[in-house]
Amino acid sequence: MADTVPLVTSTEGVEGGVGLTALLVAAARAIETHRPDSLAQDIYAEHFVRAAQASAHWPVRLDQAPGGDTSPLWGRFARYFGLRTRVLDDFLLRSVRSTGIRQVVLLGAGLDTRAFRLDWPVDCVIFEIDREGVLAFKHEVLDTLSAEPRARRVPIGTDLRADWAGALTATGFDATAPTAWLVEGLLFYLPHAAETALIDTVDRLSAPGSALAYEVKLERDLMAYRDSPLYTSTRRQLGIDLLDLFSREPRPDSVARLTDRGWTASVHTPFDFTHRHGRGPLPEENDALAGNRWVFADTYPVSCMDPAVPPVRV
Ligand SMILES: C[S@@+](CC[C@H](N)C(=O)[O-])C[C@H]1O[C@@H](n2cnc3c(N)ncnc32)[C@H](O)[C@@H]1O
Repeated sequence: MADTVPLVTSTEGVEGGVGLTALLVAAARAIETHRPDSLAQDIYAEHFVRAAQASAHWPVRLDQAPGGDTSPLWGRFARYFGLRTRVLDDFLLRSVRSTGIRQVVLLGAGLDTRAFRLDWPVDCVIFEIDREGVLAFKHEVLDTLSAEPRARRVPIGTDLRADWAGALTATGFDATAPTAWLVEGLLFYLPHAAETALIDTVDRLSAPGSALAYEVKLERDLMAYRDSPLYTSTRRQLGIDLLDLFSREPRPDSVARLTDRGWTASVHTPFDFTHRHGRGPLPEENDALAGNRWVFADTYPVSCMDPAVPPVRV
């Protein structure tokens, strides 16, 4: 692999708007990778950060971040993404190893490099859906690094507010085979109708024995946390106003929607996993993470939910 990646040219999709949030998560993963007590390893993450003008000066190690671990952005928020990465790595690997699922779909994949860094069964296929511009940037960086996927990988550049199911099935997705779906860090940005349509589509395309993990925010009033350290530091230090990017519409009850259709679902706070792993963010005052929930759902004949982390009531 090349040591460094110069600034690349296909940056239109990541230099602004919601695409920039993919670089934020990449920077967090880079920092997590270099921690001595790392929860997840992503050797590609720092190369994405360095390759885009907008993020080239961001820290990729904690000792490059003013305030280090006490920084709300590069300490606590980055750790949140590190924990999320680990928990969802575990979800996907558990799905393919213990249930025989061989088809994985990453919705809003962004700069997720799981296809390149996780140890997949040889016959696994990974579909990645995101906007064309984000995937073009990702490919330019990964090509420069001569990165090779560790399973068959099918990138699909499309908008998840449109008919993405058609694009997915046109590339060989098999709706008669069970699937592991991942919707990480995406639903906040989608309007109510797009989230509902996405959940309905996942349900419709899921053969029995499928699994789904996704992240939501429960706050009725997102603006209640506008002055939280997490939102203000992201706004001031990076120019990313997450609240401007999030949909302000009331959120649908996707857990109820899935359980009505026969899915078994379990809902967790991120803090459940902080306790489980012995590191990660803990609750604090005026906490923009207070409403975040990680949902795990499946249509297994006998639920394979992990009882080691008791679910919370929503
Ligand atoms: C915060 S990033 C998360 C990326 C990735 N899941 C991860 O955790 O690294 C949000 C991603 O959602 C994608 N996204 C947001 N709205 C989208 C839409 N309408 N259609 C396709 N992708 C979208 C963005 O392009 C971005 O890559």
